[in-house]
Amino acid sequence: MSERFKNLIDGKWVDSVSGASFERRNPANGELVATYTKSDARDVDAAVAAAAKAFKSWRLYPAPKRGELLFDAARILNDRKEQFAREMTEEMGKVISEARGDVQEAIDMTFYMAGEGRRLYGQTTPSELPNKFNMSVRKPIGVAGIITPWNFPMAIPSWKMTPALVAGNTIVFKPASFTPRMAVRWVEVLQEAGIPDGVVNLVIGGGEDVGNAIVEHPDVALISFTGSTRTGVGLASRAAALNKRVALEMGGKNAVIVLDDANLDLAVDGILWSAFGTSGQRCTAASRVIAQRGIQQELVERLVARAGGMRLGDGLDESVQIGPIVSKGQLQTISGYIEIGKQEGARLATGGGVATEGALGKGFFHEPTIFDNVGRSMRIANEEIFGPVTSIVPVDTLDEAIDIANSVEYGLSASIFTQDINNAYRAMRDIFTGILYVNAGTTGAEIHLPFGGTKATGNGHREAGTATLDFYTEWQSVYVDFSGKLQRAQIDNQ
Ligand code: UN1
Repeated sequence: MSERFKNLIDGKWVDSVSGASFERRNPANGELVATYTKSDARDVDAAVAAAAKAFKSWRLYPAPKRGELLFDAARILNDRKEQFAREMTEEMGKVISEARGDVQEAIDMTFYMAGEGRRLYGQTTPSELPNKFNMSVRKPIGVAGIITPWNFPMAIPSWKMTPALVAGNTIVFKPASFTPRMAVRWVEVLQEAGIPDGVVNLVIGGGEDVGNAIVEHPDVALISFTGSTRTGVGLASRAAALNKRVALEMGGKNAVIVLDDANLDLAVDGILWSAFGTSGQRCTAASRVIAQRGIQQELVERLVARAGGMRLGDGLDESVQIGPIVSKGQLQTISGYIEIGKQEGARLATGGGVATEGALGKGFFHEPTIFDNVGRSMRIANEEIFGPVTSIVPVDTLDEAIDIANSVEYGLSASIFTQDINNAYRAMRDIFTGILYVNAGTTGAEIHLPFGGTKATGNGHREAGTATLDFYTEWQSVYVDFSGKLQRAQIDNQ
């Protein structure tokens, strides 16, 4: 018997007002994972009311104490890591080692932000006038709407919610409809750690019903969204009309540059891991390989040999390297891009098909796929596919490689394999992405540095690191005049 999960509103697990529900099935085998209550704007109203009420006291709860609750949450997460990882693999499909990594990322982030409770630094600066003290402090903003994707079902909610909480905001959380069980687990942990009622509210349901209601609710002050560029830009334009603060993390078309002087063993490992890990369903996935012509042929041969031997299957099997695609619709999108690539004249070097052999036929599996001789302007070299597909784009020089790396609409991650330090530094200077790797693939961001992208990937904000606190707080500059008389800045100090 599978479980049925509900919303968390004002500290209580409750059904949606409509009483409707929906199912989630395991993408590896079609088995029922869980049933969920299906919410709409009425549930959002109740959640926002609870969050707005809780904000009144949560903002005054000392930040180090808020941090201590997060320390407890991190410890509970750590204790349940294996259970949550297995549940994640069943619900979303990523292989178990990566699911453990996803939970670990949430543990890391929660510990890290817990520590911010004793920092949340502002500045003190001298005043231009005598007997006057100047400082700036971070202030919480209010109710944060948190809208998260299915590909990192525990890590990404933690990136958004732990800084929101430590800074003193309260939350209305809408997880992706493919992965609400992980959201329930995460919220249960926060509740168990002692986060007070109403501070974190979970509303399960679709983007049309729940997401839009969160964006449009007058008492939601800020919105953090990770997902597709189309949804994000639509959301931001509605929020702009209401003058709300919005952070967007969206698509990527991340390039690995491999120069003639690269360590090819390393490049092959890095490309396979970042192109096919999570079945290519990462915003940071390496969906382009820009290869200098001197090594192109050997690189492609080695990638093809290795990709062909990768094991597909249910991610709970420790020997499986590529799990299923999250849904049938996403599998069809990938198949559509394979056709586009063929029609554009790229050479299909390996893969290209839906995998249906034996037990794979019960799920949504796609072979790891490499297109060679891809032209820089082809659609498969520019559009995000979100599947195990990568395109080799040949070049003559580093300048050409950098130019192509920068030529797409997105700017999340990039990488360069070279043994020449001068080439590495030129790439660091000239590639305009939010994240850059030298001698590693395009994935693997650590939580204490800023995460996010330039251009169509985002809207200028960053998650993770201390940079994320700038999104979840407002600065207040405080001037304390203890001179006992009127002192006019810019005038009385001449
Ligand atoms: C994402 O792809 O949406 O750097 C997040 C990485 C992970 C996070 C990826 N730590 O690949």
